[in-house]
Amino acid sequence: MKNVVILAIESSCDDTSAAVIRDGVLLSNVTASQRVHEEFGGVVPELASRAHQLNIVPVVDAALKRAGVDSKDLSAIAFTRGPGLLGSLLVGVSFAKGMALAHNIPLVEVNHLQAHILAHFIKTNSEASNSPSGRPIGGTPSNSEASPSFPFLCLLVSGGNSQIVLVKSHREMEIVGQTIDDAAGEAFDKCAKIMGLPYPGGPWIDRLAKEGNAEAFQFAKPNIPGYNYSFSGLKTSFLYFLRDNLKENENFIEENKADLCASLQKTVIDILINKLKRAAKDLKINEIAVAGGVSANSGLRDALIDLGRRHRWKVHIPPFAYTTDNAAMVCQAGYFKFLDGEFCPMDAAPYAKTKI
Ligand code: KG4
Repeated sequence: MKNVVILAIESSCDDTSAAVIRDGVLLSNVTASQRVHEEFGGVVPELASRAHQLNIVPVVDAALKRAGVDSKDLSAIAFTRGPGLLGSLLVGVSFAKGMALAHNIPLVEVNHLQAHILAHFIKTNSEASNSPSGRPIGGTPSNSEASPSFPFLCLLVSGGNSQIVLVKSHREMEIVGQTIDDAAGEAFDKCAKIMGLPYPGGPWIDRLAKEGNAEAFQFAKPNIPGYNYSFSGLKTSFLYFLRDNLKENENFIEENKADLCASLQKTVIDILINKLKRAAKDLKINEIAVAGGVSANSGLRDALIDLGRRHRWKVHIPPFAYTTDNAAMVCQAGYFKFLDGEFCPMDAAPYAKTKI
């Protein structure tokens, strides 16, 4: 099929994003991040919804302009249907419906979690012409130059999810392990908050960890059967550790911030990598990918590359632009669905929770 042009809209949490793809090549990806939540130490759903309403028109406009595409030339509108915050999703879903109706074109719904994984298949203009595989390595530390081949295992780690997913095709994905309580990103954010770092805490911990000693402190690692994860014990152990030490020295956090971040980050990475390694060995999969906001973590990226080297597994690490929430990944997922002729009705409502 030729000249398929899709506009995608992502509004599941606190990033308003729009992207345009033509014949499988990404033309634009524009994101407005909401700073309004910083002072609250977490996303405030009502404020997120209102900010999406303010951002969506200029963001879509910029994405179309940057792509050099007129809205009349669109073949379909893809949108994130869930999971996410309902008030946030509603803005993107309603906008997508209105635009599809106005132009009399089909709607394609996208599962946000699948989109994170399918970010590994995004091609951009230069890469599409430079590389036969079209892999957007874009200077990121990856030991693989091709898109993942099926089946592969994807470690999906974000603020709301920590899962090991067996990806059998663009459409067929099976969760083999997942967190039974907090997500890895949530553990980073909550521990950062305890240390008085701004929200979201993950990038702050990553930055500070580079200057610290990862062996300085030991924190609890969960003992959960199978390939499931748990991070709530780590958070509690971190909290109690700080509380006890603050009794002795009220400057304990300030004096040890880098070591605390490095030790905490190492613990989270060890937990993530150990289960992933076991799942890959048991399922005899030798291709691994990582996706979601926490995949921006430099320690996790290095640990995965090291894992790949030691086991001769291919490791796929996404460019930074596609780690946190973005519409480019929604566009890619929507493009695959469009080619399969999978459209959704105009009365499709957003959903807060869903599986892959
Ligand atoms: O995928 P994402 O943008 O949003 C959803 O949860 O859907 O992920 C956000 C999460 C936050 O918890 C944030 O702290 C974490 O990703 N994160 C990081 C880093 N960058 C973002 N965590 C650790 N290191 C980072 N460099």
